[in-house]
Amino acid sequence: MLFFGGDYNPEQWPEEVWAEDVALMRQAGVTIATVGVFAWSNLEPEPGHYEFGWLDRVLDRLHDGGIRVALATPTASPPPWFTLAHPEAMPVGADGVRLTHGSRDTYCVSAPAYRAAARGIAAKLAERYANHPALAMWHVHNEYGTDCRCDATAAAFRAWLQKKHGDLDALNESWTTAFWSQRYSDWAQITPPRATQYLPNPAHVLDFRRFLSDELLSGYVEQRDLLRAANPDVPITTNFVQGGWVSVDHARWATEVDLVAVDHYPAATDAGAEEETAFAGDLARGWGGGSWLLMETAPNLIYTSGRMHAKEPGRLTRHSLGYVARGSGGAMYFQWRQPRGGAELFHSALVPHAGPDSPIFREAVGLGRRLRALSPHVAEAGPPSARIAVTWDAPSWWALQGGGLPSADIDYLAAVQQAHRVLFRSKLATDFVFPGVSTDLGDYRMIVVPHLYLVSDEAAAAFRDYVANGGRLVVGYLSGIAEPDTRIRLGGYPGAFRDVLGVRVVEWHPQPPGVEFPLDNGERASRWSERVETAGAETLARYTAGVLAGAPAVTRNRYGAGSAWYVSTALTDDGLGRLLRSVAEEAGVAPVLPGLPAPVEAVRRGDLLFLFNHGIAAATVPLPGPAVDAATGRDRGDTVTVQGGGVATVRLR
Ligand code: GLA
Repeated sequence: MLFFGGDYNPEQWPEEVWAEDVALMRQAGVTIATVGVFAWSNLEPEPGHYEFGWLDRVLDRLHDGGIRVALATPTASPPPWFTLAHPEAMPVGADGVRLTHGSRDTYCVSAPAYRAAARGIAAKLAERYANHPALAMWHVHNEYGTDCRCDATAAAFRAWLQKKHGDLDALNESWTTAFWSQRYSDWAQITPPRATQYLPNPAHVLDFRRFLSDELLSGYVEQRDLLRAANPDVPITTNFVQGGWVSVDHARWATEVDLVAVDHYPAATDAGAEEETAFAGDLARGWGGGSWLLMETAPNLIYTSGRMHAKEPGRLTRHSLGYVARGSGGAMYFQWRQPRGGAELFHSALVPHAGPDSPIFREAVGLGRRLRALSPHVAEAGPPSARIAVTWDAPSWWALQGGGLPSADIDYLAAVQQAHRVLFRSKLATDFVFPGVSTDLGDYRMIVVPHLYLVSDEAAAAFRDYVANGGRLVVGYLSGIAEPDTRIRLGGYPGAFRDVLGVRVVEWHPQPPGVEFPLDNGERASRWSERVETAGAETLARYTAGVLAGAPAVTRNRYGAGSAWYVSTALTDDGLGRLLRSVAEEAGVAPVLPGLPAPVEAVRRGDLLFLFNHGIAAATVPLPGPAVDAATGRDRGDTVTVQGGGVATVRLR
């Protein structure tokens, strides 16, 4: 059964409202409610004094209404009494300023008092609710990501570094501390990166980011293990966040959760939102190894660039089914009922301030019905499958967020999103692979590698084997530059990929912003250029202007049974699309459906086909054969007309 529901905060409301909540949830076909995410101060109003009565009544009510519960541990927001008892457990910024309560996420995950308190409340919840019949899953914490640079963090960081590097000589070597007299002669000299005079050491910063991800993960694992001990049959997860700030390496975390749960709030309000939704769904599916769960998205108003943006009717349904098409086991929202107060008082909800007599609640009722009808089909269909993959690597992203880089326009996330976006627009189904975590590159026919700055020897060898065995590899600039610890691979860029690409880059020529320059094949490029020397590769396009005029810009190398392309500059979306489509064609990878009208997105899961019309006018889609409507079982023939802004789901016969 597909999950449908979201964050439910009854602690913000008088008990009279709870009965209406359950009645409305039943009306909308809600199947699950995430309870207790920020309820610590209601559950433990004073240290060691617990009040579970209200939560008992909430869970029983939901259970009586046939609604399951994702029960959260409330550890993302310790109560004010905790701050006063343990000021040393409050997070300290790089500038040395210690924060205090008054918002949320104010804790240091390395502080022993915080850890003990988090274990304490999680253990109490486990003891009381691990066998509650409504319990569908545990939702540990909320969006792990808090950064701290305090002394407790410093101690934990040193322990992590000792384990990783073994001795100080190795650390000094790995961090190139001979640069600017940074050589450490005692572990005690090492701190988290803190406010300093000029650029910090990039290897220090990257190790700290990796440490922080692992440290937060250890906080999760500690809670997970005690919840699991209380009832090994209940799945345990925590909600990953996707967006522009990401403190943890989700590809690594994914193996520690029973199901990958993701919060996704598209920032774009135009067609870009569809592209972001597809990106988020494909990436989450990659982390989850085929399946995942959309834990939060906004039902309506979202904060975008200084003002809230309302979703037009139908968008909630279209995007929600979009996540489901891409492997989510349901659609869940932040939040059920819009709050009367608090910091996010205007954040949208399925039941808005206006009440259930509102477009959003009516749309939710329709969506609940559709999800119910789709459930059995999705259960049979299995995940969508793709023959093309794009690489994703959080440490490369982090490394490219540092200072000391050759251009201020370097943007890892944008480069990966562009690769995915042009494949999406080309109607080519796409997966993700994680070469920093696993060298298994699957049996993809084509892999696109944007800005994979850090590459291990093992990963480089896996890419080589992949191409030698017939794979098609498209490598973008700023890939293969450094070893995983940020030390440059010498002898010419893109170090790790030089042999498979048959090129050697001897100089970078970053370009000023806003300037486009032509290549000799008619494409236009911007932001970046390089002096590329071929060493076996053929040249597909050359630079035409400036000192690089006549030098290779895009190349292709035949290597074993496969081929590897190198793109040394930033192509436009259209240009990159043309290149990737030609590679896909050569690799024998076809679009999801032939002849799809431009605004229609198709996602195929076995014989189950989702058709999303992101345009305004109705669109008619030719099908590969006769189909039946997945919701009604009615015959649809071999064409389907999808209303503007609508979604059709059919089963091919
Ligand atoms: C996150 C949080 C929620 C809420 C939403 C608002 O996903 O988990 O508590 O703050 O953002 O968009």
